[in-house]
Amino acid sequence: MSHTRYRVMEAGEARRFPPEAMARIEKILTRYPTKQAALLPVLWVAQETWGWISKEAGEEVARVLDLPPSHVDGVLTFYTMYNLRPVGKHLLQVCTSISCHLNGAESLLERCGKRLGIGLEETTADGKFTLVEVECIAGCDRAPSMMVNDQYFEPMDAGKLDALLDRLSREA
Ligand code: FES
Repeated sequence: MSHTRYRVMEAGEARRFPPEAMARIEKILTRYPTKQAALLPVLWVAQETWGWISKEAGEEVARVLDLPPSHVDGVLTFYTMYNLRPVGKHLLQVCTSISCHLNGAESLLERCGKRLGIGLEETTADGKFTLVEVECIAGCDRAPSMMVNDQYFEPMDAGKLDALLDRLSREA
């Protein structure tokens, strides 16, 4: 799973993309007509590199792509898939849009919170889990749907959720 690549960084930590991330970015840039057009995938590399996108990480993306930091900020606040603050190693994203709502999403969300002892937008004290509610993640035909980092789990039910949380707790 991709979360194993994450190294969560501290707020305010000065940063430059490490060489392996720069190599990925160079490869991405070959697929786009301009550097600026590669903004979304390069932001994704930043998130995979640092676990979230701080102000400093956004500035690094702007530097690499020759963009004004304000432009990067605007894109970051538009898309919900980018984490703008530190998250746990496992980012649990439970969809509560209509199809998932009709198929028990709220009870899954509640079960997650109870099992982990956290509320929405909170992270467990050990830094392993963050719980968020998200809008449709395009898994409506297999609702209720949730994601852990960038991996889908669907259709979910209480038993599968318990098994998933048990497994992630053991791995973490
Ligand atoms: S409504 Fe939940 S994935 Fe679309």
